[in-house]
Amino acid sequence: MKLIIKNLHAKVEDMEIIKGLNLELETGSVHAIMGPNGTGKSTLAAIIMGNPRYTVTEGEITLDGEDLLSMSVDERSRKGIFLAMQYPNEISGITNADFIKSAMQARLKEGEHISLFKFVREMDKAVSDLKMNPDLPHRYVNEGFSGGEKKRNEILQMKMLKPHFAILDEIDSGLDVDALKIVGENVNSMRSPDFCSLVITHYQRLLDYIQVDYVHIMMNGKIVKSGGKDLITKVDQEGYDWLKYELGIEEEIQEKHTIVLGTCAVKDRK
Ligand SMILES: Nc1ncnc2c1ncn2[C@@H]1O[C@H](COP(=O)(O)OP(=O)(O)OP(=O)(O)O)[C@@H](O)[C@H]1O
Ligand SMILES: [Mg+2]
Repeated sequence: MKLIIKNLHAKVEDMEIIKGLNLELETGSVHAIMGPNGTGKSTLAAIIMGNPRYTVTEGEITLDGEDLLSMSVDERSRKGIFLAMQYPNEISGITNADFIKSAMQARLKEGEHISLFKFVREMDKAVSDLKMNPDLPHRYVNEGFSGGEKKRNEILQMKMLKPHFAILDEIDSGLDVDALKIVGENVNSMRSPDFCSLVITHYQRLLDYIQVDYVHIMMNGKIVKSGGKDLITKVDQEGYDWLKYELGIEEEIQEKHTIVLGTCAVKDRK
């Protein structure tokens, strides 16, 4: 399957955030996106998933040639698109297990039902693979979960739903070193010809556990450089200034402003 983004422009509350972004994702590969804070990485993820807060003003996103942007969030999910959010939501009153089961049920044809036995067995295995507290599936979705538990829970959902395109938005933030390894290895074990992941991260450490085929750097609303794993090391060691200079993105290079502290700091010379 192919998800193709062409010349995407999008805005939120009249502010343009995505400014001509191109990206091609194909099942069988894993991509990483890195980029400074506020460059639109989470916005891109939200647009692919169909968050109505963002308005696409130009360009297109297609899934195997079909117009993804005209599909509802639910339809996108059933087609195999999944988003692990940077800040997962709490859903009170619905247990994790029920939430995942309903999402799985929604993917089946009419009249088909999930076998409860198979579901429980699969869920138990996923919980144990992720070394999660066995209580978590029976608690309300993310309610009172620690930061790290919420992140692991997103991966639990991914393992159960088996999407074709999984966008993982800073899944490593808030994870301790052991959890980082567990989550990384679980994501890596999803690699298959039917699966593609777009891993948004700031650091190399998560990608030490995930075999990544392509690395993209996003700046100022678009992908400005794509390459292999060596880009991750360069960003980790040197940050982004080298790239800003290479690309001549003048407005991104912050000029140092002299700060005036106010008249109380100035001596009266009279
Ligand atoms: N709903 C919104 N209302 C107002 N501004 C928004 C909204 N969503 C995003 N933005 C702005 O768009 C810009 C891009 O935000 P986004 O969250 O996509 O960045 P990011 O690349 O994911 O950053 P980070 O690395 O910090 O997670 C930011 O300046 C942000 O404040
Ligand atoms: Mg973000």
